Amino acid sequence: MDAAHGSLLGVEHLEAAEIMRILKFSRRMNPDRPRPLLKGKRILLLFYEASTRTRSSFEIAAKALGAHTVLIHASGSSIEKGESLLDTGYTLRAVGADAIVIRHPNAGAPQIMAEHLDVPVINAGDGLHEHPSQALLDAYTILRNKKSFRGLQVAIIGDIFHSRVARSACHLLSKFGVKVILCGPPELVPDIAATIAPGVHVTRHIEDALRGSDVVTLLRVQKERLAGMHIDLTEYIARYQMTPARLKAAKKDAIVMHPGPIIRGLELTSEVADGPQARILEEVSNGVTTRMAILARALGKMR
Ligand code: NCD
Repeated sequence: MDAAHGSLLGVEHLEAAEIMRILKFSRRMNPDRPRPLLKGKRILLLFYEASTRTRSSFEIAAKALGAHTVLIHASGSSIEKGESLLDTGYTLRAVGADAIVIRHPNAGAPQIMAEHLDVPVINAGDGLHEHPSQALLDAYTILRNKKSFRGLQVAIIGDIFHSRVARSACHLLSKFGVKVILCGPPELVPDIAATIAPGVHVTRHIEDALRGSDVVTLLRVQKERLAGMHIDLTEYIARYQMTPARLKAAKKDAIVMHPGPIIRGLELTSEVADGPQARILEEVSNGVTTRMAILARALGKMR
């Protein structure tokens, strides 16, 4: 299998059938029952940005498949000394990397790596572009809670503008005909967001987003990201924060998701975060199984 084939750079250009193949294979993965599919392989985790969930779950997933992992942070590595992205890539290849998982603040960084290296590259989040492993684990979580994608409506509420998770989710869900409603104030959810993929809509009114929704995904609203924008967080909370009372507008059996990190008291209240409809920690667990499948696929072992 060539590197480009095993690489996972985004969801936009992934076919629905391939997505289903990954999701089905994920079901067979279980970190508590390790399988030596990647025995002796070396997975390099190259993180130019902070990460808790994504990094630890890729690491646990790789180990559960019998691979060795090496974690490289931008700080404390030669990246700090000004080494270019590609030179870092060539170096990692030369030390024997069989696959590279990369998170980078610039959109397209994983793509550049993949074009120049003969090993699979997995995008663990690139700038405001995509976060494909998150979209896959979220799709996996939806399928574990709902029978299929057929007829589903998903509301995504929060800072869509700064969210690569939202972009990847829109691409993925759209391929399965899911109706996606993006909701938030105009600066965080510009009208143009409706053009990310077919079947994506934008509304400013949370009741409109929630009505009839099977899944409610909340996204982080981080103060530091809002510099230069006119967002009043008190007003955001008043209009968009997920509370038990608001959640009643969604379907009775709606589930609440959030890629994390969650900010209690901002995107959602603790009652919702810890409530019976929340699937936030289930998403984290599902991240490990889905990433096992993604890594197995990268190295041609998803059979
Ligand atoms: C997200 C990310 O980094 O894009 N987190 C994650 O990987 N689970 C979301 C965020 O940081 O807001």
